[in-house]
Amino acid sequence: MNRKLTGLVSALALSAVLAACGQPGGKSDMPPLPASATAPIQYVRDIHSFARPEIARVRNVDLDLTADFATKTLSGTATLDITAEPGATQIILDVRNLDIRAITDEAGTALPFVLGAVDPVMGQPLTVTFPAFKAGEQRKIVIRYATRPDAAALQWLTPAQTAGGQQPYLFSQGQAILTRTWIPTQDSPGIRQTYSAKITVPDALKAVMSAEMLTPDGKAAGTGQHSFSFRMTNPVPPYLIALAVGDLAFASEGSRTGVWTEPSRLDAAKAEFSEVGQMVDAAEALYGPYRWGRYDLLILPPSFPFGGMENPRLTFATPTVVAGDKSLVSLVAHELAHSWSGNLVTNSTWSDIWLNEGFTTYFENRIMESVYGRDRALMLQVLGWNDLQSSLKTMPAADTRMHVDLTGRDPDDGLNDIPYEKGAAFLRTVERIVGRDAFDVWLKGYFERNAFRPMSSAQFLTDIRTHLVKGDAALETRLQLDNWVYQPGLPSNAIAPVSTALTTVDTAAKAFFADKGPASAIPWSGWSTQERQHFLAWRPTGLRAGTDWLPPPQLADLESTLKLRDEGNAEVLFGWLQIAVAHRYQPAVPTLEHFLTSQGRRKFVMPLFTSLWAEGDWGRPIATRIYARARPGYHPVTSGSVDALVGVPTGQ
Ligand code: BES
Ligand code: ZN
Repeated sequence: MNRKLTGLVSALALSAVLAACGQPGGKSDMPPLPASATAPIQYVRDIHSFARPEIARVRNVDLDLTADFATKTLSGTATLDITAEPGATQIILDVRNLDIRAITDEAGTALPFVLGAVDPVMGQPLTVTFPAFKAGEQRKIVIRYATRPDAAALQWLTPAQTAGGQQPYLFSQGQAILTRTWIPTQDSPGIRQTYSAKITVPDALKAVMSAEMLTPDGKAAGTGQHSFSFRMTNPVPPYLIALAVGDLAFASEGSRTGVWTEPSRLDAAKAEFSEVGQMVDAAEALYGPYRWGRYDLLILPPSFPFGGMENPRLTFATPTVVAGDKSLVSLVAHELAHSWSGNLVTNSTWSDIWLNEGFTTYFENRIMESVYGRDRALMLQVLGWNDLQSSLKTMPAADTRMHVDLTGRDPDDGLNDIPYEKGAAFLRTVERIVGRDAFDVWLKGYFERNAFRPMSSAQFLTDIRTHLVKGDAALETRLQLDNWVYQPGLPSNAIAPVSTALTTVDTAAKAFFADKGPASAIPWSGWSTQERQHFLAWRPTGLRAGTDWLPPPQLADLESTLKLRDEGNAEVLFGWLQIAVAHRYQPAVPTLEHFLTSQGRRKFVMPLFTSLWAEGDWGRPIATRIYARARPGYHPVTSGSVDALVGVPTGQ
């Protein structure tokens, strides 16, 4: 239920804030903000935030935090710039599991505050009371606080959990509603905020953020510590505020791209991502200027729970994409594409995450096509389409709507193939019907018109009708826009992508899996990673979970002929392990155990534990045993999901 709220922010108040923060985007390395950025915003009610931005809202967050690895806490202050309607006497912030110590105004006078009832998903409203606001006024409130050791956004790694083994490490993951576990602010994607930060860390470590770094070498800050300063002058939704602290090194690659990672991983990472500059150029050529200055990558330790996270200026990525042969770089194309779809034009609530992820999956593929050619792009489309087909078969119909009802649910529940792959299939359908040229003109305009603004499904429909359909009734009928956005399943105008390369793989897969041919007949060594993934995703039609479809000698033939015990590519290994578990193939258990204890990417970990769990007497004891070893190394995002399935191991 999206009850539209009418509160409009006056353009005057917003321009005052923009002026106070310096010239957002006006620095030499950033194009100026488009006119759209200062137009009034119509807030859509976000059921995952307690904030009431139409009454009082945060404009800027200034953090001054110290990272203490001994107590696993960040502590210090968050100074919030706020604006409010005339007469307003309160602001409501989102917090979860924070230790709030004091709140004052700029002069240090204490302000009364109340923490409301705890909701397990949303956390608590933090209501701060102050003297009534006057028209056009902007004020600061200073919150002294500390995070808790089990803050869901943060993972504190011991030295043993890093590549170097000598220094601890800390990183944050804010999306969807976890920023409130480390920053007390209005944590809704529709409430954009500029930010700045001073982060104090032990001398041996460096801090990086999703922002411009003002002090590359740090500044002395007391015994054994130094601090790093940052600023983000573009207003961003709070889920994009991100921090990492560790023994980090940087290698630049071209004029505006580069990679951060631990020193021992730097050469491999630099080589893997040498084509990222070309991707940024390709993206700009498609849909307009890159508005964030630099585009760097941070390759995290293996427990990073996602493949990638589009933190502005600094994509966070799993080390499992460093495959050694650039075969998984579409993940970078994806996170880069978010610099437009998501970071410029942002889903106003998590029910519309398809506006972030579907547009990004479409755009990712266009970048891949520009840089690596149509054949590779088509293979990636087919892999995504096939994932979508299996999700459509297994998911409850109501959840196959792009605009999804998340009432009473965690926004993570909406994170599946629907927003990504149904969203991308939708945009490809529109592209095919109107033609690529007209489509690209519209999409480039959509990013420009809506830059730095929240977007709902309803607003999207208005934009596409106004700027692309333009009253053409026949076109409106052919597109089936409402059907795509609001109905379950796939509308009748959806068309499956075809890749001739993968059709050849299908022939080989049928020969091996269905006709029980020898593994030596599989042309494995001539195949790309995408062809290998496709081969391993082959399933007989009508297969029930737990049904054996390959006899053990054939599995052994596959495992040894394709050298799957030594496979280094995480996507390929994942494909094989899914087959192995479905067959209760005991010889693969050591490989499975190594995979599940050496990385913590939820996309790999969750399906494998789910498959093990489905294998009852055989799989559950294995899952329980492996999870007891793996869990201490997982990020809360991953362990939270596995806990719900396997249970928390005793003593943890
Ligand atoms: N923004 C997402 C990750 C995300 C979404 C985190 C929602 C938390 C809540 C990111 O861009 C993403 O989609 N990552 C994918 C990789 C991509 C290539 C599909 C992932 O992590 O697997
Ligand atoms: Zn994404």
